[in-house]
Amino acid sequence: MVRHRKGGKEQHKNGNNETSSSSGSSDSSVGNKSFKLLSLWKTMLGFVCLGIAVYVGTLGYLETRVNTPFDDEKVVQNSGLSIPERYWGTYRPGVYLGLKSREPRSPVFGLMWYDLASAAQKGIRHWCDQGDNLPTYGWLWHDGVSFGEQRISDPPHNIITSFVKTPGGEHGGHWTARINVTSKINTSTPFALIWYAALDESLGGAALHSRLWLDGDSLLGHTPHLHNFKINLLPHSGKLLHMSHSEAHAPGLHLLKEKLYSLLREHKLSGPHGRVPALGQDEDLTGQEKEVNFVPIQLLVQPPFVLDVVYSTEDLPTPPLKGDEYTTVLENKKKDFDEEFEKKFKLAEKGYKQEDIAIAKAAMSNMIGGIGYFYGAGRVQSQYTREPVPYWRAPLYTAVPSRSFFPRGFLWDEGFHGLLIGRWSPDIQMDIVAHWLDLINVEGWIPREQILGSEALARVPKEFVVQSNAAANPPMLLITLAQFVNKNRELFEPHAPYRSMLDRMFSRLQAWYQWFQNTQKGEEPTSYRWRGREDDGLQLNPKTLSSGIDDYPRASHPSNIERHVDLRCWMYAAADAMATIADVLQRDTSKFEALRDQLGDEELLNELHWSPRTQTYADYGMHTDGVKLVRQAPKNPSEQAKLVRSVTTPPHPRLVTSAFGYVSLFPMLLKVLRPESDNLGKILANLDNPDLLWSPYGLRSLSKSSPLYMKRNTEHDPPYWRGQVWLNVNYLALAGLRHYARRAGPHAAAAAALHDRLRDNLVGNVLSEYKRTGYLWEQYSGEDGKGSGCKPFSGWTALFVLIMEGEY
Ligand SMILES: *[C@@H]1O[C@H](CO)[C@@H](O)[C@H](O)[C@H]1NC(C)=O
Ligand SMILES: *[C@@H]1O[C@H](CO)[C@@H](O)[C@H](O)[C@H]1NC(C)=O
Repeated sequence: MVRHRKGGKEQHKNGNNETSSSSGSSDSSVGNKSFKLLSLWKTMLGFVCLGIAVYVGTLGYLETRVNTPFDDEKVVQNSGLSIPERYWGTYRPGVYLGLKSREPRSPVFGLMWYDLASAAQKGIRHWCDQGDNLPTYGWLWHDGVSFGEQRISDPPHNIITSFVKTPGGEHGGHWTARINVTSKINTSTPFALIWYAALDESLGGAALHSRLWLDGDSLLGHTPHLHNFKINLLPHSGKLLHMSHSEAHAPGLHLLKEKLYSLLREHKLSGPHGRVPALGQDEDLTGQEKEVNFVPIQLLVQPPFVLDVVYSTEDLPTPPLKGDEYTTVLENKKKDFDEEFEKKFKLAEKGYKQEDIAIAKAAMSNMIGGIGYFYGAGRVQSQYTREPVPYWRAPLYTAVPSRSFFPRGFLWDEGFHGLLIGRWSPDIQMDIVAHWLDLINVEGWIPREQILGSEALARVPKEFVVQSNAAANPPMLLITLAQFVNKNRELFEPHAPYRSMLDRMFSRLQAWYQWFQNTQKGEEPTSYRWRGREDDGLQLNPKTLSSGIDDYPRASHPSNIERHVDLRCWMYAAADAMATIADVLQRDTSKFEALRDQLGDEELLNELHWSPRTQTYADYGMHTDGVKLVRQAPKNPSEQAKLVRSVTTPPHPRLVTSAFGYVSLFPMLLKVLRPESDNLGKILANLDNPDLLWSPYGLRSLSKSSPLYMKRNTEHDPPYWRGQVWLNVNYLALAGLRHYARRAGPHAAAAAALHDRLRDNLVGNVLSEYKRTGYLWEQYSGEDGKGSGCKPFSGWTALFVLIMEGEY
């Protein structure tokens, strides 16, 4: 951005110069005073017009840059039906069970349920929602390609959902989903299962030759890609009390449950059940021009009940799976998965107990089963756009951090996800990276949070929707890709399967890398600064959302003199990653190596970031520890007193040494320091101190001795990266420790010992919290190890599978 802004200004100035020199020559040739005045006036008008033209032209150009795609061949060349094995999937991670195909305009299918006995309090279940307070849910098996099995506990009911695909034919093949409801208590109250199909209104369902309709009890549909398909709901066992359905119009995929409520009518059931809800006609459809885009079918059942939902495409003669045959195929798939999992991660061989291995399988299955396929346009803004503007419409195939809380793509999270996904399936990993890199714009920027489509948008608070092109996010995706390429070189040799894809990625990676160099540099040579910090007078310490570690304390007063040690280390790792990839592609590596070596120069690093006083690495900026939140007397009595920041000691330029924590560790985390470095020894000694970062549950994000340890940032902002244990950074710490343990040097033994203790602490706590709570968590308390933040969080927390394995 800085470069473009400068360019704009220069152009502007040139325009002025040309105009004033031409006005000078016309002045000297004319004597008449009034004529001269007129001429001056004309010249000025000309000058203004030219100025405006240049200004508007430049502005128009700059305005459109933020949502102009990077100008090169797309990385994703095959998608949709041309990759049949990943065509259908549970690509709607934000619902408890939802299927769709990897097609921008795919119809969506899904499950809702409610218990008649408690429907008034609990409502209808559909979206994964923390407010539902389910004791546990999540995939126990999921291979990302052919099947999965999920367990959902919604007391007194247990619901097991599974699916198996039957590939073949030209239109995506068949699939079968099974829903198995059991109850812990003997009750005769009916339980409602709703299966639905829907078309995305915002993409023009009917206008695009897609249709849904009912034929008896079957749900039929047609789309240009799927041709004719059919869904039959086949009770496998148990008692079906009543079945009802509806052809309806929903105003959007984010309003399916609301629409369903409006379709429920009272219905008199013969027998002991009396009046029950049943689906009826959609009043909105009668007499209006609206098309059917939502077809729900409701089954009132008496648990235990097993339902097979059988999707079949007309063009595949093989009969779809159902009944006992489905049971057998599913059991075999689970067995194959178990064998493959052991082959890859060797947890049994390493001596882990079966119950712990089952948790590791669930963690990995949730990461893989949480992969979604999104389509739409996010909203972005640059300094040249008056209003947020839409990005271009694009697909994104990506894992998500949390199905309940963050069911969409996040840039730096995906870098961590890739560490595990790449181990399970190189095909899936490469496909995910390819989709992300196609989201890069002409400036080399990738929006940090991807909110694509109405379902995704409905889950995001307004203030987080618009992405600014000034904001970076750690380039973990690049670093993980380079590691993957390096470990699987055979896939990237000339003529190997992924060579040409990596070739297509390269110009985009280079543009992204260059974007960091152009936009995130600090004032001092070789220093870097995260953009996007803003002091609103309310935050105890202004957040740095772009860094990924939002409220981690930085300089108290954001300014241009700031420099961030974590970003500088990310840039070291990014340069190293680019060099690795360039090397595999037999391209020029010198420029990347030069920057890597410069950023790896410990003396330079120390000059910018080492505090001889505290013997730690730190950020630098306008800083004071003299800040606190105080209640400000309201201006008039009707207002509430609000908390604002008060500064008791003025800031001055200095190292932010009081914020000892993850940021201080980065030169070790990203392996910037040499094995023989004295400062590495200091970091290791500091790690092993329970009064600072060390806890029995992993490394805390911020030292217990820091003034902002576990402090709220504002009235409404509880601490987030101010002491809690986060798995992603702990993973980096283990990888760093292992790196130094395996290199000869004075700190190898200490690093090895710390590695083993930290690994045992992390694995022990994640497993015991899963057993206690039924979930993986976003973070863990550094005080008592309890899971905190959102759940389930099977994004980077699932990296404990790799930690158990001990391979980084
Ligand atoms: C349904 O779930 C129950 C309880 O987990 C299990 O015993 C049963 O075998 C399942 N039935 C089918 C057909 O999968
Ligand atoms: C439920 O009822 C059946 C038959 O009425 C009985 O056999 C069974 O033991 C009961 N189960 C529970 C958990 O009460």
